[in-house]
Amino acid sequence: MRKIILLGYMGCGKSTIAKTLSRIIRIPFVDLDEYIEEKTNLSINSIFEKHGEIYFRKVEHEAFLELLNSSEEMIIGLGGGTPCYANNHELLKGENVVSVYLRASIETLFNRLSANKSKRPLIANKNDEEMKEFIAMHLFERSFYYNQAQYKVNVDNKTIDQVVLDIVSILA
Ligand code: S3P
Repeated sequence: MRKIILLGYMGCGKSTIAKTLSRIIRIPFVDLDEYIEEKTNLSINSIFEKHGEIYFRKVEHEAFLELLNSSEEMIIGLGGGTPCYANNHELLKGENVVSVYLRASIETLFNRLSANKSKRPLIANKNDEEMKEFIAMHLFERSFYYNQAQYKVNVDNKTIDQVVLDIVSILA
């Protein structure tokens, strides 16, 4: 069954947009980070702290494969780094997959993330200036992987409903 995959940098709105999309098109939404937390019984922060990022990427890849191989139709919200490790980007073009990159500018990401960073181990300890620089560099490095998505939707200056409508018209 079809899998609709939303991807993009931390703070681009994947989960919020996926929840509204799920309500409108009546297809269940699974957040990959939450799925990993349930599967391991650990928060994303504790996985990073206890086992390190490489271990997290391994678990993330396995969890992504599990969801892709399940027989149900679903919307999957990836973690910001998912497409960039373990050749996960190649899975964005698979059969029965519709992948959508939610593209946001550095400014949008910075504004959203500076208010909400404690649950994100990669940026939790950075001050504003460090964070802006980190986002700019990281987004540049990751763009290649994000651009492997079949569709791209800009989210800057749009409401959640506008972005959801853009995705609904892609799916039509
Ligand atoms: C990460 C993004 C997070 C989470 C982990 C690593 C990343 O997901 O998977 O903290 O590498 O960008 P969100 O994009 O949902 O915050």
